[in-house]
Amino acid sequence: MKLLISNIKSLVQVEETPRMWVAGADMAKLNCLDNAYLLIEDDKIADFGKMEDMPNYDEMEGFDLVEEIDATGRMVFPSFCDSHTHLVYAGSREIEYTDKIKGLSYEEIAKRGGGILNSAKRMHDASEEELYEAAMERLHEIISMGTGAVEIKSGYGLSVEDELKMLRVIKRLKENTPLTIKANFLGAHAVPSDYKGRQGEYVDLVINEMIPQVAAEELADYIDVFCDKGFFTVEETDRILNAGMKYGLRAKIHANELDYSGGIQVGVKYNALSVDHLEYVGDAEIAALKGSETMPTVLPGAAFFLNMVCSPVRKMMDAGLPVALASDFNPGSSPSGNMKFILSLACINYKMLPQEAINATTINSAYAMGLQEELGSIAKGKIANVFITKEIPSIEYMPYAYGSNLIDVVILRGQRL
Ligand code: NIG
Ligand code: FE
Repeated sequence: MKLLISNIKSLVQVEETPRMWVAGADMAKLNCLDNAYLLIEDDKIADFGKMEDMPNYDEMEGFDLVEEIDATGRMVFPSFCDSHTHLVYAGSREIEYTDKIKGLSYEEIAKRGGGILNSAKRMHDASEEELYEAAMERLHEIISMGTGAVEIKSGYGLSVEDELKMLRVIKRLKENTPLTIKANFLGAHAVPSDYKGRQGEYVDLVINEMIPQVAAEELADYIDVFCDKGFFTVEETDRILNAGMKYGLRAKIHANELDYSGGIQVGVKYNALSVDHLEYVGDAEIAALKGSETMPTVLPGAAFFLNMVCSPVRKMMDAGLPVALASDFNPGSSPSGNMKFILSLACINYKMLPQEAINATTINSAYAMGLQEELGSIAKGKIANVFITKEIPSIEYMPYAYGSNLIDVVILRGQRL
């Protein structure tokens, strides 16, 4: 089955030779092909090029073109890769939102039994079916907003039963959506109330019971720990990542959101695929990341929603590092999975150029979920997850028009939705 998109004003993020990621000064470069075509065959990108070089498909024998889309005036992007979300959850948390407006800090809300523990209580009471239905609705929403791959964490269960329940929901979502999904086991997201004052015992539970069961049922691709002030220490993170590694679970962790927690260093020590949040990054953290295979991942939605300091993204890029961006879609600190809005936040709050932000939400965030060989760019043989914009004057217009829905047609695995 073949689908041809012709007369594309600009085909964005094209690659002749697929790269691992884009780093440093290269992040400001975005390879685009103007006046282009894109040929999709089954679920893969089969070919692309300039319109003037387009083969005369009509006259080719046995060429079973099913659909042609004329994209005059419109651009084609590779779908966003959202490498950090918590989108399986039960119930929204707008009460905390007003508490935050009144001035309570994230840590104060957590101490009052709000925050993650609030979601854990609701998670416990929710059925697998309810969780699945609600999460599927969120998936449909992010698909319509241009996301083609998403990482989803557990971490609102905080008991063996409920962590497994969350991960089984993620597995079902994987099986029933054209999105590519990666599952991340985040048992060490917070210490549950029944382990209050016994944090070490909870870490033992994560290591001795949760990890083996998660691995036995093959429910997770990655392992996560919230390594930060007031949550899990570097030593605890070290123990958990070490245990996860023995079961083949590569780390992708929360680090340095609330302090210089040492999370980045312990993540790099375990060759984490990514370290995420990164509000607190200094020279020591940058030195640790240099030369590593760990993708620094920034979550502008959470920093915006919690009104926090911004991660020093420019400093990291100036040091030659790559940077990825993700939504952190979750009910507490970032109740949105709108990656186009993440582009705008990156430009406005972090002074990233639109080209840098696009690299960070496509090729680099694909790497941050282990998908750089399959997604994140327009390259032959990659999965055909793309979107066609409405008529727009320029690439810069995408983050600039921050409140407009500019995504017109979504194609996932070669299928127009
Ligand atoms: O990524 N930082 C830790 N965890 C989530 C917040 C989850 C919540 O508040 O429910 C985050 O922002
Ligand atoms: Fe998170």
